[in-house]
Amino acid sequence: MAHQWRGVIREYFERLDVDSNTKIITLGEGGTPLVAAPALAQLVGAEEVYLKVEGMNPTGSFKDRGMTMAVSKAVTHGAKAVICASTGNTSASAAAYAAAAGIQSVVLVPKGKIALGKLAQAVAHKAQILQVKGNFDDCLDLARDLAENYAVHLVNSVNPDRIEGQKTGAFEVVEFLDRAPDIHVLPVGNAGNYSAYFKGYKEDVQAGRIKHIPQMWGYQADGSAPFVYGTPVKNPDTIATAIRIGNPASYDLALAAREESQGRFGAVKDPDILWMHRFLSQEVGVFVEPSSATGAAGLLQASRAGDNLAGKTIVVTVTGNGLKDAAWALKDERGKEIKPQIVSNHAKEVAERLGLA
Ligand code: F0G
Repeated sequence: MAHQWRGVIREYFERLDVDSNTKIITLGEGGTPLVAAPALAQLVGAEEVYLKVEGMNPTGSFKDRGMTMAVSKAVTHGAKAVICASTGNTSASAAAYAAAAGIQSVVLVPKGKIALGKLAQAVAHKAQILQVKGNFDDCLDLARDLAENYAVHLVNSVNPDRIEGQKTGAFEVVEFLDRAPDIHVLPVGNAGNYSAYFKGYKEDVQAGRIKHIPQMWGYQADGSAPFVYGTPVKNPDTIATAIRIGNPASYDLALAAREESQGRFGAVKDPDILWMHRFLSQEVGVFVEPSSATGAAGLLQASRAGDNLAGKTIVVTVTGNGLKDAAWALKDERGKEIKPQIVSNHAKEVAERLGLA
């Protein structure tokens, strides 16, 4: 008999901060595939590389793992409305889980800097959307301020329930591999997800399920890389709008995670992110949004810079679905728009155009 995945709270009930009084709001998040990427392994000279395909979550990003926890807790505590600042994915997720819970959602997004698909999701799920004249960091300050002073519950990753839910990504990796990878690579914005995977692996070590925590490698876009520069970036700039963040909310947590895992942070240039975005689509078969290619782009950069990855098992979290920000797929390497040719319905002409005749 086929069993349906029950969402991360029910699947990992004993390992999460929940109890029998928790009112569970779920859309069946988690249980995402770990996809072998031999083309990427070959490119970087590693033994094996797997992609943790988080675009398979109900709203198309990893945010759903944390949002099921944050909204469940909010509802359990009687909240009637949730609020978040977002570069797009958190707002899509908050809006969907609020809809499922039958409560209001309010989302604050940086004006003109979120991908169309993500905005459409928030609209579809009936969020109250405000475009703020400012960047993500300004939106987060505003959301915190409102949550402190008014009757709305904050569901950004400064809320520990979010990190708690997102740590389940690491549990799934360990269950699938039956061991810890040597290296785990992620794109980094607020560093909530980086910190969450670290927490998940650490708990698996403490429970004796694995022997060591993988090295945690986090990559940012170079126009938006406070972890690399060691200081907040005032005007973060990158085409990878999801990680266009200058003042990460989980800065201290992530620094501690890097230290303890003997990991690293790095920065990659926008053209290298877009190159990897195309490579993952064309050579691996996994369509992600550009920001989500930043981790794999960092891995390639490390390999090109001389890191020897031979014999290593590496997991790369690809965080969001390519359909959210589809416009990037419709441009070639030079940024020129790609338009499929128009043909008649005659087989001979079509065969000629395809080079078959
Ligand atoms: N990848 C994607 C697709 C994201 O949407 C985000 C963050 C990240 C990576 C980085 O994760 O912040 O935990 O380091 N998006 C947030 C949002 C900021 O509002 O959707 P992080």
